[in-house]
Amino acid sequence: MAENPKIRTPIVCVMGHVDHGKTSLLDRIRGSSVVSSEAGAITQHIGATIVPIEAIRTMSGSMGKVPINIPGLLFIDTPGHHAFTTLRARGGALADMAILVVDINQGFQPQTIEALQILRNCKTPFVIAATKIDRIHGWRVNENESFISSFNKQNERVKGDVENKTYEIVGKLSELDFSADRFDRVADFQRNLAIVPLSAHTGEGIPDLLLIMIGLAQRYMSDELKLLVEGPGAGTVLEVKEERGLGTTLDVILYDGTLAVGDEIAVATQVDVVVTKVRSLLKPRPMQEILTEDRFERVKSVAAAAGIKVTAPNLEGVIAGSPFFVIRGNRDEVTEKIKREMTEI
Ligand code: GTP
Ligand code: MG
Repeated sequence: MAENPKIRTPIVCVMGHVDHGKTSLLDRIRGSSVVSSEAGAITQHIGATIVPIEAIRTMSGSMGKVPINIPGLLFIDTPGHHAFTTLRARGGALADMAILVVDINQGFQPQTIEALQILRNCKTPFVIAATKIDRIHGWRVNENESFISSFNKQNERVKGDVENKTYEIVGKLSELDFSADRFDRVADFQRNLAIVPLSAHTGEGIPDLLLIMIGLAQRYMSDELKLLVEGPGAGTVLEVKEERGLGTTLDVILYDGTLAVGDEIAVATQVDVVVTKVRSLLKPRPMQEILTEDRFERVKSVAAAAGIKVTAPNLEGVIAGSPFFVIRGNRDEVTEKIKREMTEI
Protein backbone atom coordinates (compact mmCIF):
# COMPACT_ATOMS: atom_id res chain seq x y z
CA MET A 1 0.00 0.00 0.00
CA ALA A 2 1.36 3.41 -0.91
CA GLU A 3 1.93 5.54 2.12
CA ASN A 4 0.70 9.09 1.97
CA PRO A 5 3.79 11.05 2.94
CA LYS A 6 1.77 14.05 4.07
CA ILE A 7 -0.38 12.50 6.78
CA ARG A 8 1.27 11.20 9.88
CA THR A 9 0.40 7.68 10.99
CA PRO A 10 -1.48 7.89 14.31
CA ILE A 11 0.39 6.31 17.21
CA VAL A 12 -1.43 3.81 19.42
CA CYS A 13 0.24 2.97 22.69
CA VAL A 14 -0.61 -0.36 24.37
CA MET A 15 -0.37 -0.01 28.14
CA GLY A 16 -1.25 -1.98 31.25
CA HIS A 17 -0.05 -4.03 34.19
CA VAL A 18 2.70 -6.61 33.82
CA ASP A 19 1.55 -9.91 32.26
CA HIS A 20 -1.97 -8.67 31.51
CA GLY A 21 -1.44 -9.49 27.83
CA LYS A 22 -0.25 -6.38 25.93
CA THR A 23 2.31 -8.17 23.77
CA SER A 24 -0.04 -11.10 23.12
CA LEU A 25 -2.75 -8.73 21.92
CA LEU A 26 -0.36 -7.04 19.50
CA ASP A 27 0.95 -10.40 18.33
CA ARG A 28 -2.60 -11.48 17.58
CA ILE A 29 -3.43 -8.30 15.67
CA ARG A 30 -0.17 -8.60 13.74
CA GLY A 31 -0.73 -12.30 13.07
CA SER A 32 -4.26 -11.98 11.74
CA SER A 33 -3.37 -8.94 9.77
CA VAL A 34 -0.59 -10.84 8.00
CA VAL A 35 -3.14 -13.50 7.14
CA SER A 36 -5.83 -11.08 6.04
CA SER A 37 -3.73 -8.94 3.72
CA GLU A 38 -1.06 -9.58 1.12
CA ALA A 39 2.35 -10.53 2.50
CA GLY A 40 4.58 -7.65 3.45
CA ALA A 41 1.73 -5.30 4.23
CA ILE A 42 2.76 -5.11 7.85
CA THR A 43 5.74 -2.92 8.44
CA GLN A 44 7.88 -4.03 11.29
CA HIS A 45 9.51 -1.08 13.03
CA ILE A 46 11.92 -0.78 15.87
CA GLY A 47 9.74 -1.06 18.98
CA ALA A 48 6.58 -0.68 16.93
CA THR A 49 4.43 -2.16 14.18
CA ILE A 50 2.42 -0.43 11.48
CA VAL A 51 -0.80 -2.20 10.63
CA PRO A 52 -2.22 -0.78 7.38
CA ILE A 53 -5.73 0.65 7.52
CA GLU A 54 -6.95 -1.86 4.90
CA ALA A 55 -5.91 -4.76 7.12
CA ILE A 56 -7.65 -3.16 10.08
CA ARG A 57 -10.76 -2.68 7.99
CA THR A 58 -10.74 -6.33 6.92
CA MET A 59 -10.10 -7.65 10.43
CA SER A 60 -12.80 -5.52 11.99
CA GLY A 61 -15.28 -6.52 9.29
CA SER A 62 -15.97 -2.82 8.82
CA MET A 63 -17.96 -1.98 5.73
CA GLY A 64 -18.51 1.57 6.83
CA LYS A 65 -16.44 4.63 6.27
CA VAL A 66 -12.80 4.32 7.15
CA PRO A 67 -10.50 7.35 7.18
CA ILE A 68 -8.68 6.59 3.94
CA ASN A 69 -6.13 9.31 4.49
CA ILE A 70 -4.56 7.49 7.40
CA PRO A 71 -1.96 5.01 6.14
CA GLY A 72 -2.45 2.75 9.13
CA LEU A 73 -1.91 2.67 12.85
CA LEU A 74 1.50 2.49 14.50
CA PHE A 75 1.18 0.27 17.56
CA ILE A 76 3.73 0.67 20.34
CA ASP A 77 4.12 -1.97 23.01
CA THR A 78 5.17 -0.78 26.47
CA PRO A 79 6.60 -2.80 29.36
CA GLY A 80 4.28 -3.39 32.32
CA HIS A 81 7.04 -3.91 34.86
CA HIS A 82 6.95 -1.23 37.55
CA ALA A 83 10.55 -0.19 36.87
CA PHE A 84 9.59 1.32 33.52
CA THR A 85 7.47 4.23 34.71
CA THR A 86 9.41 6.85 32.74
CA LEU A 87 9.18 4.84 29.56
CA ARG A 88 5.43 4.41 29.99
CA ALA A 89 4.99 8.09 30.70
CA ARG A 90 6.90 8.92 27.53
CA GLY A 91 4.92 6.36 25.56
CA GLY A 92 1.67 7.78 26.87
CA ALA A 93 2.79 11.29 26.04
CA LEU A 94 3.59 10.52 22.44
CA ALA A 95 0.48 8.42 21.77
CA ASP A 96 -2.46 9.82 19.80
CA MET A 97 -4.62 7.10 21.29
CA ALA A 98 -4.11 4.13 23.54
CA ILE A 99 -5.33 0.67 24.46
CA LEU A 100 -5.32 0.02 28.18
CA VAL A 101 -5.07 -3.73 28.71
CA VAL A 102 -6.66 -5.20 31.86
CA ASP A 103 -6.77 -8.92 32.61
CA ILE A 104 -10.52 -9.39 33.16
CA ASN A 105 -9.86 -12.05 35.80
CA GLN A 106 -7.37 -9.95 37.77
CA GLY A 107 -8.90 -6.53 37.42
CA PHE A 108 -7.09 -3.33 38.30
CA GLN A 109 -3.47 -3.52 39.46
CA PRO A 110 -0.90 -0.80 40.31
CA GLN A 111 0.38 -0.25 36.76
CA THR A 112 -3.20 -0.16 35.42
CA ILE A 113 -3.84 2.82 37.65
CA GLU A 114 -0.51 4.40 36.77
CA ALA A 115 -1.31 4.09 33.06
CA LEU A 116 -4.75 5.63 33.62
CA GLN A 117 -3.18 8.62 35.31
CA ILE A 118 -0.72 9.08 32.46
CA LEU A 119 -3.53 8.92 29.89
CA ARG A 120 -5.62 11.37 31.86
CA ASN A 121 -2.72 13.83 32.19
CA CYS A 122 -1.96 13.61 28.49
CA LYS A 123 -5.68 13.75 27.53
CA THR A 124 -5.14 10.73 25.31
CA PRO A 125 -8.30 9.04 23.99
CA PHE A 126 -8.26 5.35 24.88
CA VAL A 127 -10.15 2.07 25.01
CA ILE A 128 -10.04 -0.60 27.71
CA ALA A 129 -9.26 -4.10 26.44
CA ALA A 130 -10.51 -6.55 29.08
CA THR A 131 -8.39 -9.51 28.06
CA LYS A 132 -8.24 -13.26 28.69
CA ILE A 133 -12.01 -13.88 28.51
CA ASP A 134 -11.16 -17.40 27.32
CA ARG A 135 -9.92 -18.07 30.87
CA ILE A 136 -13.38 -17.51 32.35
CA HIS A 137 -14.50 -20.87 33.64
CA GLY A 138 -16.73 -22.61 31.08
CA TRP A 139 -16.07 -20.14 28.25
CA ARG A 140 -16.75 -21.76 24.88
CA VAL A 141 -14.38 -20.53 22.19
CA ASN A 142 -15.64 -19.09 18.91
CA GLU A 143 -12.38 -18.26 17.19
CA ASN A 144 -12.08 -14.67 15.88
CA GLU A 145 -15.75 -13.87 16.36
CA SER A 146 -16.98 -10.51 17.52
CA PHE A 147 -17.47 -10.34 21.26
CA ILE A 148 -21.25 -10.01 21.10
CA SER A 149 -21.64 -12.94 18.76
CA SER A 150 -19.52 -15.22 20.95
CA PHE A 151 -21.04 -13.88 24.18
CA ASN A 152 -24.54 -14.75 22.96
CA LYS A 153 -23.47 -18.37 22.51
CA GLN A 154 -22.29 -18.75 26.14
CA ASN A 155 -24.44 -20.25 28.88
CA GLU A 156 -26.15 -18.05 31.48
CA ARG A 157 -23.56 -18.66 34.19
CA VAL A 158 -20.66 -17.66 31.94
CA LYS A 159 -22.60 -14.60 30.76
CA GLY A 160 -23.20 -13.61 34.37
CA ASP A 161 -19.50 -14.03 35.13
CA VAL A 162 -18.51 -11.77 32.24
CA GLU A 163 -21.04 -9.15 33.35
CA ASN A 164 -19.80 -9.20 36.95
CA LYS A 165 -16.15 -8.93 35.98
CA THR A 166 -16.95 -6.11 33.56
CA TYR A 167 -18.88 -4.25 36.26
CA GLU A 168 -15.94 -4.60 38.61
CA ILE A 169 -13.85 -2.72 36.05
CA VAL A 170 -16.61 -0.14 35.57
CA GLY A 171 -16.69 0.34 39.34
CA LYS A 172 -12.92 0.81 39.65
CA LEU A 173 -13.00 3.33 36.82
CA SER A 174 -15.83 5.20 38.45
CA GLU A 175 -13.81 5.47 41.68
CA LEU A 176 -11.18 7.19 39.56
CA ASP A 177 -13.79 9.50 38.00
CA PHE A 178 -13.99 7.80 34.63
CA SER A 179 -17.41 6.95 33.32
CA ALA A 180 -17.23 3.65 31.44
CA ASP A 181 -19.36 0.80 30.14
CA ARG A 182 -19.17 -2.28 27.95
CA PHE A 183 -18.63 -0.89 24.44
CA ASP A 184 -21.99 -2.06 23.07
CA ARG A 185 -23.76 -0.01 25.74
CA VAL A 186 -21.81 3.15 25.06
CA ALA A 187 -23.79 5.74 23.11
CA ASP A 188 -21.36 8.63 23.30
CA PHE A 189 -17.74 7.60 22.89
CA GLN A 190 -16.58 11.15 23.63
CA ARG A 191 -17.98 11.00 27.15
CA ASN A 192 -17.74 7.32 28.03
CA LEU A 193 -14.87 4.91 28.02
CA ALA A 194 -15.54 1.72 26.11
CA ILE A 195 -14.59 -1.63 27.64
CA VAL A 196 -14.04 -4.39 25.09
CA PRO A 197 -13.88 -7.91 26.54
CA LEU A 198 -11.57 -9.99 24.34
CA SER A 199 -9.02 -12.76 24.10
CA ALA A 200 -5.62 -12.51 22.46
CA HIS A 201 -5.46 -16.30 22.35
CA THR A 202 -8.73 -16.91 20.51
CA GLY A 203 -9.15 -13.58 18.73
CA GLU A 204 -12.66 -13.10 20.13
CA GLY A 205 -13.48 -9.42 20.60
CA ILE A 206 -10.58 -8.19 18.51
CA PRO A 207 -12.85 -7.13 15.60
CA ASP A 208 -14.79 -4.95 18.07
CA LEU A 209 -11.60 -3.41 19.47
CA LEU A 210 -10.37 -2.52 15.98
CA LEU A 211 -13.73 -1.00 15.02
CA ILE A 212 -13.54 1.29 18.01
CA MET A 213 -9.94 2.20 17.19
CA ILE A 214 -11.12 3.18 13.71
CA GLY A 215 -13.77 5.33 15.35
CA LEU A 216 -11.15 7.08 17.46
CA ALA A 217 -8.90 7.57 14.43
CA GLN A 218 -11.83 9.04 12.52
CA ARG A 219 -12.22 11.66 15.16
CA TYR A 220 -8.65 12.63 14.42
CA MET A 221 -9.55 13.34 10.84
CA SER A 222 -11.39 16.43 12.00
CA ASP A 223 -8.08 17.49 13.42
CA GLU A 224 -6.00 16.54 10.40
CA LEU A 225 -3.45 19.26 10.90
CA LYS A 226 -2.26 17.52 13.98
CA LEU A 227 -1.25 14.56 11.88
CA LEU A 228 0.64 16.38 9.16
CA VAL A 229 4.29 15.51 8.86
CA GLU A 230 6.19 18.71 8.90
CA GLY A 231 9.51 20.14 9.96
CA PRO A 232 12.43 18.64 11.82
CA GLY A 233 12.03 15.26 13.43
CA ALA A 234 10.97 14.86 17.04
CA GLY A 235 10.85 11.61 18.94
CA THR A 236 11.49 9.61 22.07
CA VAL A 237 14.33 7.21 22.79
CA LEU A 238 12.78 3.87 23.72
CA GLU A 239 16.00 1.95 24.18
CA VAL A 240 19.75 2.43 24.14
CA LYS A 241 21.39 -0.74 22.82
CA GLU A 242 24.84 -2.07 22.07
CA GLU A 243 24.75 -3.75 18.67
CA ARG A 244 27.56 -5.92 17.39
CA GLY A 245 29.48 -4.00 14.72
CA LEU A 246 27.43 -0.84 15.25
CA GLY A 247 28.36 0.27 18.76
CA THR A 248 25.81 2.16 20.84
CA THR A 249 22.53 2.64 18.99
CA LEU A 250 19.24 4.35 19.83
CA ASP A 251 15.84 2.80 19.22
CA VAL A 252 13.67 5.82 18.58
CA ILE A 253 9.98 6.42 17.99
CA LEU A 254 9.69 9.39 15.67
CA TYR A 255 6.34 11.06 16.37
CA ASP A 256 6.71 14.17 14.27
CA GLY A 257 8.58 15.47 11.22
CA THR A 258 11.35 13.76 9.31
CA LEU A 259 14.75 12.36 10.20
CA ALA A 260 17.58 11.84 7.70
CA VAL A 261 21.15 10.56 7.60
CA GLY A 262 23.49 13.51 8.25
CA ASP A 263 20.95 15.35 10.40
CA GLU A 264 22.25 16.94 13.55
CA ILE A 265 20.36 15.55 16.55
CA ALA A 266 20.17 16.30 20.26
CA VAL A 267 19.42 13.76 23.04
CA ALA A 268 19.80 13.66 26.79
CA THR A 269 22.42 11.77 28.80
CA GLN A 270 22.45 11.30 32.57
CA VAL A 271 24.26 14.58 33.01
CA ASP A 272 23.86 16.68 29.90
CA VAL A 273 22.50 17.01 26.37
CA VAL A 274 24.63 15.55 23.60
CA VAL A 275 24.59 16.89 20.03
CA THR A 276 25.73 14.51 17.30
CA LYS A 277 25.24 13.64 13.62
CA VAL A 278 23.17 10.69 12.34
CA ARG A 279 25.48 8.15 10.73
CA SER A 280 22.85 5.64 9.68
CA LEU A 281 19.15 4.82 10.02
CA LEU A 282 18.25 1.17 10.31
CA LYS A 283 14.95 -0.62 9.80
CA PRO A 284 14.45 -4.22 10.86
CA ARG A 285 14.09 -6.61 7.94
CA PRO A 286 10.89 -8.60 7.54
CA MET A 287 10.91 -11.91 9.46
CA GLN A 288 11.43 -14.11 6.41
CA GLU A 289 14.57 -12.21 5.39
CA ILE A 290 16.23 -12.20 8.77
CA LEU A 291 18.46 -15.12 7.84
CA THR A 292 20.47 -12.88 5.51
CA GLU A 293 23.53 -11.69 7.41
CA ASP A 294 22.43 -8.09 7.93
CA ARG A 295 19.44 -7.86 10.24
CA PHE A 296 18.81 -4.26 9.26
CA GLU A 297 18.05 -2.38 6.13
CA ARG A 298 19.71 1.02 5.74
CA VAL A 299 17.43 3.90 4.81
CA LYS A 300 18.26 7.51 3.96
CA SER A 301 15.33 9.10 5.77
CA VAL A 302 12.08 8.37 7.60
CA ALA A 303 8.88 10.32 8.22
CA ALA A 304 6.69 10.18 11.32
CA ALA A 305 5.36 8.10 12.75
CA ALA A 306 8.01 5.43 12.66
CA GLY A 307 10.24 3.29 14.81
CA ILE A 308 13.87 3.44 13.74
CA LYS A 309 17.33 2.50 14.97
CA VAL A 310 19.82 5.37 14.89
CA THR A 311 23.59 5.10 14.87
CA ALA A 312 25.78 8.12 15.54
CA PRO A 313 29.00 8.98 17.37
CA ASN A 314 28.94 9.76 21.12
CA LEU A 315 25.71 7.97 22.04
CA GLU A 316 27.22 6.30 25.13
CA GLY A 317 25.42 7.60 28.20
CA VAL A 318 22.20 8.53 26.41
CA ILE A 319 19.23 7.49 28.55
CA ALA A 320 16.11 5.61 27.53
CA GLY A 321 13.11 7.90 27.73
CA SER A 322 15.06 10.91 26.52
CA PRO A 323 13.42 13.29 24.06
CA PHE A 324 15.03 13.32 20.64
CA PHE A 325 15.13 16.32 18.30
CA VAL A 326 16.59 17.11 14.90
CA ILE A 327 18.34 20.47 14.99
CA ARG A 328 17.49 22.88 12.18
CA GLY A 329 18.51 26.33 13.28
CA ASN A 330 19.19 27.22 16.87
CA ARG A 331 21.07 24.53 18.73
CA ASP A 332 20.71 26.14 22.16
CA GLU A 333 16.94 26.36 21.84
CA VAL A 334 16.69 22.60 21.23
CA THR A 335 19.11 21.82 24.05
CA GLU A 336 17.08 23.92 26.45
CA LYS A 337 13.85 22.21 25.33
CA ILE A 338 15.35 18.80 26.11
CA LYS A 339 16.52 19.92 29.54
CA ARG A 340 13.04 21.25 30.27
CA GLU A 341 11.36 18.02 29.16
CA MET A 342 13.76 15.91 31.20
CA THR A 343 12.83 17.72 34.39
CA GLU A 344 9.10 17.49 33.62
CA ILE A 345 8.77 13.69 33.75
P1 GTP B 1 4.73 -7.45 30.11
O1 GTP B 1 5.28 -7.04 28.78
O2 GTP B 1 5.71 -8.26 30.90
O3 GTP B 1 4.19 -6.30 30.90
O4 GTP B 1 3.48 -8.46 29.86
P2 GTP B 1 2.36 -8.38 28.75
O5 GTP B 1 1.28 -7.49 29.22
O6 GTP B 1 2.95 -8.06 27.43
O7 GTP B 1 1.76 -9.85 28.76
P3 GTP B 1 1.98 -11.01 27.69
O8 GTP B 1 1.33 -10.69 26.42
O9 GTP B 1 3.42 -11.34 27.68
O10 GTP B 1 1.12 -12.18 28.36
C1 GTP B 1 1.39 -12.69 29.65
C2 GTP B 1 0.86 -14.10 29.76
O11 GTP B 1 -0.56 -14.10 29.60
C3 GTP B 1 1.39 -15.03 28.68
O12 GTP B 1 1.62 -16.30 29.26
C4 GTP B 1 0.27 -15.11 27.66
O13 GTP B 1 0.24 -16.31 26.95
C5 GTP B 1 -0.95 -14.98 28.56
N1 GTP B 1 -2.08 -14.37 27.83
C6 GTP B 1 -2.10 -13.18 27.21
N2 GTP B 1 -3.30 -12.93 26.64
C7 GTP B 1 -4.07 -14.01 26.90
C8 GTP B 1 -5.42 -14.37 26.57
O14 GTP B 1 -6.18 -13.64 25.93
N3 GTP B 1 -5.87 -15.58 27.03
C9 GTP B 1 -5.07 -16.42 27.76
N4 GTP B 1 -5.59 -17.58 28.16
N5 GTP B 1 -3.81 -16.11 28.09
C10 GTP B 1 -3.30 -14.94 27.67
MG1 MG C 1 4.90 -7.43 26.92
